[in-house]
Amino acid sequence: MKAAITATAKYLPDGVVTNHDLERMFETNDEWIRSRTGISERRIMEDPCKATSFLCGEVAKQLLEKRGIGADEVELIIVATMTPDMLFPSTACLVQDIIGAGNAWAFDLNAACSGFIFALNTATRFIESGAHKKVMVIGGDKMSSVVDYTDRSTAILFGDGAAGVLLEPAESDDYGVLDARLYSDGTNGKDHLLMTGGGSLHPASHETVEKRMHFIHQDGRQVFKSAVTAMADTAAEIMQRNNLDAENIAWLIPHQANQRIIQATAERMGLGMEKVMSNIANYGNTTAGTIPICLAELDEQGKLARGSNLVLVSFGAGYTWGGMYIKWQ
Ligand code: UT7
Repeated sequence: MKAAITATAKYLPDGVVTNHDLERMFETNDEWIRSRTGISERRIMEDPCKATSFLCGEVAKQLLEKRGIGADEVELIIVATMTPDMLFPSTACLVQDIIGAGNAWAFDLNAACSGFIFALNTATRFIESGAHKKVMVIGGDKMSSVVDYTDRSTAILFGDGAAGVLLEPAESDDYGVLDARLYSDGTNGKDHLLMTGGGSLHPASHETVEKRMHFIHQDGRQVFKSAVTAMADTAAEIMQRNNLDAENIAWLIPHQANQRIIQATAERMGLGMEKVMSNIANYGNTTAGTIPICLAELDEQGKLARGSNLVLVSFGAGYTWGGMYIKWQ
């Protein structure tokens, strides 16, 4: 039995921060940001009382409505996030509470920017094994809660947002999630993209606050190089394993970290940019949100025809990366 996506939904907060807004906060400029990253603006959750569970909860409500099912029919909720409302309970349990999915079990999964792909693959196994028939997979991050707005190298990149899918048994074995290749490399990745404060190694203290350890730190150049190689290699691997080529792929749906990484991946696949989903200009990098936001936008715009071959690829902290092949049902 294969697993298919039967509904998509996204939620972006209303607050907009443009490159010009950032010019007023630190030394940068719109031209640099657009040419180096492809980003023009990003969305920010302005209400300090609302966090990742709110973003994901809005997605969950829409998924129920779009599919026309009750919350009590949901059997499992997986939330991919690296910015949970709090260390515990999980954000997935908070989402369960928001929609009243009393029959579900729920947990968070943290694979940073690859979170959605890792969660979707996990959920796929529960459908394929016959264990569950309705699984919600949501990726969302309130990145503004961990971005250091005095660090111009990271502050320009990230935005808040969430999106997700409902996963159910496919109509036939020809449709749905047909392949996945997931990878991690803590040895080479653990030191280049991280937030050290607030965990069990460095619990919050005056010192962790003073040393700005509750913010993202990234060696951008190093991560960029690894991301280009890993995303391109994985996309090529997915194509080769599934006899896909530039002709029969409908969409490449890549993680939205940098337009130059997206372009390099597309080039390696031999794909024209008209087949590449990119909305990084509007939202920046929403971490676990990027890929499902892309999926939801394509779906809203009626661009996912039955039988469309989709290739999803991601790369993020850990390092974690991977690719998936989905035939749209
Ligand atoms: O989603 C998780 C995975 N994350 C990623 O995939 C992100 C990967 N990395 C990147 O996207 C890029 O490395 C960045 C966009 C973060 C940086 O772009 P870059 O082309 O690698 O720039 P750089 O870090 O090599 O910096 C080049 C120059 C430096 O100045 P000097 O040393 O050449 O004088 C920086 O100080 O650009 C300067 N710079 C800036 N200038 C204006 C860095 N940030 C800014 C800025 N505005 N915001």
